Amino acid sequence: MKLIRPHGGELVNREVTGSDREQLIQGSTELPKLSLSPREISDLEMIANGAFSPLEGFLGEADYRSVRTNMRLANGIAWSIPVTLSASDKQAKAFREGHDIALYQGDDHLLGILHLEEKYQYDKQREAELVYRTRDESHPGVKALYAQGEWLLGGKISLIDRQRNVTFPTYRRDPVETRSLFRQRGWRRVVAFQTRNPVHRAHEYIQKCALEIADGLLLHPLVGETKSDDVPAPVRIKSYETILEKYYPATRTILSVMPAAMRYAGPREAVFHALIRKNYGCSHFIVGRDHAGVGNYYGTYDAHHIFDEFEPEELGLTPLFFDHTFFCRSCGSMASTKTCPHLAADHVTLSGTKVRELLSAGELPPVEFSRPEVAQVLIEAQRASGKAAGKSA
Ligand code: ADX
Repeated sequence: MKLIRPHGGELVNREVTGSDREQLIQGSTELPKLSLSPREISDLEMIANGAFSPLEGFLGEADYRSVRTNMRLANGIAWSIPVTLSASDKQAKAFREGHDIALYQGDDHLLGILHLEEKYQYDKQREAELVYRTRDESHPGVKALYAQGEWLLGGKISLIDRQRNVTFPTYRRDPVETRSLFRQRGWRRVVAFQTRNPVHRAHEYIQKCALEIADGLLLHPLVGETKSDDVPAPVRIKSYETILEKYYPATRTILSVMPAAMRYAGPREAVFHALIRKNYGCSHFIVGRDHAGVGNYYGTYDAHHIFDEFEPEELGLTPLFFDHTFFCRSCGSMASTKTCPHLAADHVTLSGTKVRELLSAGELPPVEFSRPEVAQVLIEAQRASGKAAGKSA
């Protein structure tokens, strides 16, 4: 059973073990230190476990510039988001090219080593414009970019230890593990679904449409850092467990989490999300409306159009594009702007604000919008967080 090959051909493995690991740990006490942000910690893990193949480290300047402008690494391989490690002026002064840096979570948990090849300055506005398509600092991805240090540190990494207090350990599977699971199940055509939200009916519909033409579905929610008003990951996981148990065939579905942080880079991030899932062994990837978008920064289908900027063989996996989907009362079923001839008045669509209002009043949204079991999980979570807020006030 042949699965899709990893991006760039080989699955990267930068996790050190045995005596190499011991040596690095011993040597690390002499090294300058750098504490990583939550996003950088996720990136480090995903470089090490091959989810970011062919990257073996944080981008050096030639790759950074090439990704920023051309959505390709300097060697021409497709890559749409700069994966970088930043440092302040003061920190950068203490780091020497050609020497190692010890990478920490907090100041006492050694995660790994950066083999620093180069340090360089970069133009944040230019990155914002090209990658996020806006310079507006109220965009959460741009805001995070502007808050970074003024220098970037490029070089291969070696992972010594995973992060402390890892969430959802039973659902964490590295690309080698998802690949082996797919093989065990005899799946070759695997479709991945990225999400940072609880599964509502539109999600379920496009997942199941995609599953009709695939052997299996990888439900692959992102559980790295998200903005504070997104539904917290533990609540989302509970909602996935609930819906999977009742409405999905266990033999055709796998729930696993993706540790990356959300960038909210819309179209660029859709390509990034697709390439990552290719590394996890998925041959197909769902891209719906406003994928990885936030606010009104991106057009509804910009994340579809960006795929036209690549030759199919550059990406390798097949994106499956879905238009805006909803329940249509006249069709009597789920449908999309592509398949439904009726007026918008027939469509059951609810804004995020409306859904939040209903849930906080303890009311279930219409079943055509959300499975009641999922809505119940969200209502309970809201009650619990309301109580916790009440207690701490
Ligand atoms: S995202 O930031 O991870 O893209 P979300 O979890 O809301 O956010 O979306 C997951 C996937 O479902 C994305 O591919 C998105 O485009 C798609 N999607 C969400 N809602 C709809 C919808 N109503 N119709 C079509 N696609 C949708």
